[in-house]
Amino acid sequence: MGKLKLAVIVGSNRAESINRKLAEALVDLVADRVEPAFIRIDDLPLYNPDLESKRPAEVERFVKEVAASDALLLVTPEHNRSIPAVLKNALDWGSKPAEKNVWRGKVAAITGTSPGAIGTAVGQQHLRQILGVLGSLVIGGEAYISFQPDLLDAQGRIAKEDSREFLKAYIDRLLDLTWQLKGAAKAA
Ligand code: FNR
Repeated sequence: MGKLKLAVIVGSNRAESINRKLAEALVDLVADRVEPAFIRIDDLPLYNPDLESKRPAEVERFVKEVAASDALLLVTPEHNRSIPAVLKNALDWGSKPAEKNVWRGKVAAITGTSPGAIGTAVGQQHLRQILGVLGSLVIGGEAYISFQPDLLDAQGRIAKEDSREFLKAYIDRLLDLTWQLKGAAKAA
């Protein structure tokens, strides 16, 4: 079995983003199964339909990278009980024009972390709803992670074994389902 192209999108444009660090640690858990591509969203202009007639190069690059992926992993903070504007902006760019919506038919897993007691639970619900509308298949299950300084070890890996196993199982489900759908498409 080969490696899946996993597009990783971090919903933060902060240089020291804890969600980026978490995303790197998650990818490390399944390094033998994926070819990861961390897709930039912080350089995308603010969505404006007037730009559609001549899409900026950053947008063209972004949609091409998402389109080339087999599966999506979105790791995002929560801003004011929803997803950050930088991530919503990227989702909007990828959704238009409707006949070229890059999210349709993509298998996705979502997670994220924040220092709060309920992690990013509410933001993730919003993200699940948006991706559902856009036609992505978001895997079942939930991964809410309250950020504590000891979440990651000195090498940037998930420090606790039980957390590591839980999160690996979550990402493995994304990859297993993606392979199943790829096989079904081939057989059809
Ligand atoms: C936040 N933060 C936050 N946290 C949370 O758990 N629920 C929330 O609704 C919010 N709202 C919020 C709004 C805005 C405008 C900011 C800037 C921050 C805190 C946020 O989750 C925290 O700063 C995380 O560390 C951000 O993750 P990154 O950017 O380090 O990946």
